[in-house]
Amino acid sequence: MRVLVTGGLGYIGSHTCVELLAAGFDVVVLDNLANSALAALDRIEQIAQRSLAFIEGDIRDADLLDSLLDDYEIEAVIHFAGLKAVGEGQQQPMLYHDVNVAGSHVLLSAMERAGVNCFVFSSSATVYGAEADIPYVETSPVNPSNVYGNTKRIVEMMLADLCQPNDSDWSVAVLRYFNPIGAHPSGLIGEDPRGIPNNLMPYIAKVAVGELQELSVFGNDYSTRDGTGVRDYIHVVDLAKGHVEALKFLAKKQGIEVFNLGSGNGYSVLELINAFKDISGVAVPYKFAPRRAGDLPEFYAEPSKALQLMGWKTELDLNHMLADTWHWQKNNPKGYSAE
Ligand code: NAD
Ligand code: UFG
Repeated sequence: MRVLVTGGLGYIGSHTCVELLAAGFDVVVLDNLANSALAALDRIEQIAQRSLAFIEGDIRDADLLDSLLDDYEIEAVIHFAGLKAVGEGQQQPMLYHDVNVAGSHVLLSAMERAGVNCFVFSSSATVYGAEADIPYVETSPVNPSNVYGNTKRIVEMMLADLCQPNDSDWSVAVLRYFNPIGAHPSGLIGEDPRGIPNNLMPYIAKVAVGELQELSVFGNDYSTRDGTGVRDYIHVVDLAKGHVEALKFLAKKQGIEVFNLGSGNGYSVLELINAFKDISGVAVPYKFAPRRAGDLPEFYAEPSKALQLMGWKTELDLNHMLADTWHWQKNNPKGYSAE
């Protein structure tokens, strides 16, 4: 089966390409390199020992999509391409709606014209928002609290509408990721944020290699076990494998299905810092800082639906996540930009 992977050179996309190639899928990547580097392509091929097709281009380019769906005889699409920085989304809402919402509409419309109807969507646990009880279940109320989350929610609704007619022949998996961290155990691909990282794990990694001075822990007065925020961290390789299982699941199923992809375990910021020290030997200096606007105290997944329907669950624990992050960061202190 030949799969189009939009955003396939990004953090989660690159790991997913590796797993798709390993599982025997043929892969075509469409990426505009807005937040990724061409060097990732060689690294993916080096790990997988197989080649993939790469097209540099934008998901909002309908003509390009029409020709590539046809030329490559695409049978399924995994859609990672998009913008994901919560703060930037608040500053530039129209950009986020353009890339994430309008971009998904252009892509799905091109798929409709081409008769390609198998689709896996990168959604986020952020769609649940503050009102849902934890752990989050797929049926928990959805009420995102930021622009980025709204764009994910709108695309989820677009997909539900697409699958709603009785004669719809679409097969759609909406994957709500919890907090992906880690890197491929080879140390060849990993997360390479531009500028100052927004997220905890890449920030810790950059402090550990001396590129940043000190971590700010946003809030130590939450009603959690040590006062710092608790999240469900998931190894990016487990997450990547979840996409392969989703494609296999969709081969046998029509309609839309929503899955949490998380471990079901929560770790606090301080637990992550301490576990990182145990694994790497590096004590990351930190200070307590005020809460970050919009952050929730604690959330984690109820992940059993993915196990029941797709046979997927996380295999790699926090130690693997931290060891593989450190391996990647040490080998590539400047990310892909050294190439
Ligand atoms: P990423 O930025 O590393 O990857 C996104 C890729 O899409 C990049 O390679 C970028 O160049 C490409 N891209 C962006 N706009 C594009 C466009 N208009 N046309 C073509 N390519 C474009 O991000 P990631 O962490 O790999 O996330 C992948 C997806 O998963 C995103 O949709 C994101 O919202 C979602 N997600 C990520 C997280 C997370 O914590 N990383 C959590 C939940 C959901
Ligand atoms: N944190 C710090 N210092 C930092 C960065 C983060 O203390 O420098 C804390 C946060 O306050 C939070 C925890 O670390 O308690 C995790 O924060 P991240 O920014 O790493 O992750 P979030 O849970 O805030 O959000 C991430 C993505 C969202 C996505 C969500 C769920 O940024 O896009 O995971 O998948 F929706």
